[in-house]
Amino acid sequence: MDQLKRQAAARALEAVRDGMQLGLGTGSTAKHFVELLGERVAAGLKVVGVPTSEATRADAERCGVPLTTLDEIDHLDLTVDGADEIDAELNLIKGGGGALLREKIVAAASDRMIVIADDSKWVPTLGKFPLPVEVIPFGLGATRRAIEKAFAECGLSGQMAVRKDKDGHVFVTDGGHWIVDAQLGSIVDPPGLAKALSAIPGVVEHGLFIGLASSAVLAGGEGIRVIERRKPKGDQE
Ligand code: A5P
Repeated sequence: MDQLKRQAAARALEAVRDGMQLGLGTGSTAKHFVELLGERVAAGLKVVGVPTSEATRADAERCGVPLTTLDEIDHLDLTVDGADEIDAELNLIKGGGGALLREKIVAAASDRMIVIADDSKWVPTLGKFPLPVEVIPFGLGATRRAIEKAFAECGLSGQMAVRKDKDGHVFVTDGGHWIVDAQLGSIVDPPGLAKALSAIPGVVEHGLFIGLASSAVLAGGEGIRVIERRKPKGDQE
């Protein structure tokens, strides 16, 4: 599996050109990309990256990838990031690693986003992977009820749980928020659900990435498949 993730990362690296400003994703697949990018930088490639998490910042620094921020530059040429699920419209569930907020800010600021994954992430319908919803701890009971209502309006229901870390403590994101993971099973209308969740006070962000991915690089036993998005970036229909 790790080998497949590295293969997908290596393929995405082929899209990187000298002088590019890059969004650097988070997770085990994106980590391969950062490592491979570091090798190219050591060989003379000139790029600058914006990390989507403190973990990726540390990886990029270790690999010698120069970093900047979205305050210092006005756009990104390309973001390369992993995903937890990818459907045929290139809608994604992200946030299994807890970095969804920065990941979405960076993807939205980027001209293109390439999603890299092993092909187990390719699904007919999103929702088997629990949907991460990043929330403000204040008023969580009210926010949870509003989330449940939004799910019901979209014909969905399922258990919700505040994410814990491996020591059993509440998981706190890089932004200081909490994450509620929702087991929905099958999300038939991802853009509709994304809109409903975004409208809830107390929800900082959610893991549905709609209309952001330009292409997906999927590595499997039979080789690499590249799926291009048919509609322009930002088109959510
Ligand atoms: C991080 O918050 C996530 O969005 C990751 O991009 C996603 O969970 C994929 O991670 P892996 O590449 O480790 O599967």
